[in-house]
Amino acid sequence: MCGIVGYVGIQSASETLLEGLRHLEYRGYDSAGIATVWEGELHCVRAKGKLNNLREKLERIEMPARIGIGHTRWATHGKPEECNAHPHRDQTNRVAVVQNGIIENYRELKQELQAKGYTFVSETDTEVIPHLITNLLDQMQSANELVDYTSPLTEAVRRTVNRLEGAFAIAVICKEYPDELVVARQQAPLVIGLAGGEYFCASDVPAILPYTNTVVKLENGEMATLTPLGVAISSFAGDRIIKYPHVLKGNRMTADKQGFRHYMLKEIHEQPDVVRDCLSTYLSSQSKGSPIALGLPDDLFTDLQQVQILACGTSWHASLVGKYLIEQLASLPTTVHYASEYRYAPSPLLPQTLMIGVTQSGETADTLAALEMEHKRRTQRSTEFRPRLLGITNRPESTLAQLVPHLIVTPAGIEMGVAATKTFTAQLMAFYILALDLAARRQTLTPERMEEIVVGLRHIPTQIEQVLYQQSTVIEELSHRFQETQDFIFLGRGINFPIALEGALKLKEISYIHAEGYPAGEMKHGPIALLDAKVPVLTIATPGAVYDKVLSNAQEAKARDAQLIGVAPQDEQTAELFDVLLPIPKVEEILSPILTLLPLQMLAYHIAATRGLDVDQPRNLAKSVTVE
Ligand code: AGP
Repeated sequence: MCGIVGYVGIQSASETLLEGLRHLEYRGYDSAGIATVWEGELHCVRAKGKLNNLREKLERIEMPARIGIGHTRWATHGKPEECNAHPHRDQTNRVAVVQNGIIENYRELKQELQAKGYTFVSETDTEVIPHLITNLLDQMQSANELVDYTSPLTEAVRRTVNRLEGAFAIAVICKEYPDELVVARQQAPLVIGLAGGEYFCASDVPAILPYTNTVVKLENGEMATLTPLGVAISSFAGDRIIKYPHVLKGNRMTADKQGFRHYMLKEIHEQPDVVRDCLSTYLSSQSKGSPIALGLPDDLFTDLQQVQILACGTSWHASLVGKYLIEQLASLPTTVHYASEYRYAPSPLLPQTLMIGVTQSGETADTLAALEMEHKRRTQRSTEFRPRLLGITNRPESTLAQLVPHLIVTPAGIEMGVAATKTFTAQLMAFYILALDLAARRQTLTPERMEEIVVGLRHIPTQIEQVLYQQSTVIEELSHRFQETQDFIFLGRGINFPIALEGALKLKEISYIHAEGYPAGEMKHGPIALLDAKVPVLTIATPGAVYDKVLSNAQEAKARDAQLIGVAPQDEQTAELFDVLLPIPKVEEILSPILTLLPLQMLAYHIAATRGLDVDQPRNLAKSVTVE
């Protein structure tokens, strides 16, 4: 995904755009650029790489404009070179465009424009847009076409977006209309910010929040023209739309590192409060009746026969924990699918199914497409197949929120680090409470057992604080030992197997060290051949059904000279077995994942930081993947 911003108002546009882009850099950081209109000319500055490169370039240029657009890119079409950086312009330097998303029919449009004499200088899909707009402006001007209800630029953009196929959000400026910023949205997020005499647009609210918390969200098929005098919204069909702004409530929507070296570290340390917020959001404060306050309607659950979960990446790992919880606590068969796989090989439809889409950003293209497909498949069948869709997301304003009728919002606040940490924990909390809700409805747990689990969950925040406090320095020191390590194995079993997968993913994505998560009992069926003294094996072992078995699996690794790291409660056995023990409080196995996860997050963080890597913006990644 990419980030777009736009500004029209009374301040310096370039500074406002740079500040906005700083808050959107988590969306992509292959290149960045801005374009402004000043004294009847379009000025465009772009730079390959991170935003700092653009900032340095801009320091040498005077840009007093009061209107402009900006972009931070995650490369899809074309390499991360300056020539492919946004904004893109037409060949006469008249129109500039920034875009997030993909124009699927850009090849046909490009051929058509090339046949008309337009030349292309980038490998991107976006470049067709400024050419189309300028072509339409020319046509309208030469035909002396009167557009009495709107400006020519707005009309040219409208006609252009009607020719585009795919998912996109765009912002457009033109040198002939120096006080107009035109934006449009189709399947990619776009929000408009309003502050007296100043108007903003952005892919995400953090870019706008430093200036205003009064916003209007554009829906699919909507566009808007922003001028210093206000905002006019219309549909792609040209109909005027009246919308009312709303005020965003403040929470941890801060893009500030608050003294931490990296966002990721700050976000790891926010987890006790995230769990507290989850508990107060999802649990009732009433002493009588059900403790669950998810507010989901009964008919979502009536006669339910199975749960199917669709997700990608870390959200997929959280869903595996969710499967364990729903099956073990509510006795409901549950499957978890990679959304990217499910799209092309869906399961045969079974009736009375609850489909859950899990995506922290609410924008992951594969997850959204798989859910949409499922909705369509089920709508075409009889009532017992009717779609029952539930979303779990950290972004209530996301595309997912519009797609599904029911939502569990994880109150984790915005996550700036590309590697998910606190949002994963919040997803786990959502699954605990959903599983308890299902268990209560299906009467698979006694009220005493429900209460026991709820009490256990209420202790988690202080236990997280304890682990973070005790282990931060230990793990930081330990990380030096693994700076040059090339392969890491993470073992876990049962509810902690997904945590092993998540630990391996964290290490891979930010430290670039090869890591594999494996179910501990499966080691002997192959991967054990990888082990020698150079391979650290991190084993998660918590007292429960498979505790002794996991410790035996760790023994087997030790017998092959592997360096053994244990994430387990401290006792004689674990102190003796593991070369390094990262102790966690003794809790019931079913409650352990949020605690066993912490040393893994910290280890990944400190290894990456010790290796001098860009923890918050690892290479080749973006916070969410809005392309297939
Ligand atoms: C998390 O650390 C990853 N960067 C990535 O796997 C992520 O979880 C995945 O892309 C799914 O994102 P989503 O939750 O926003 O859908």
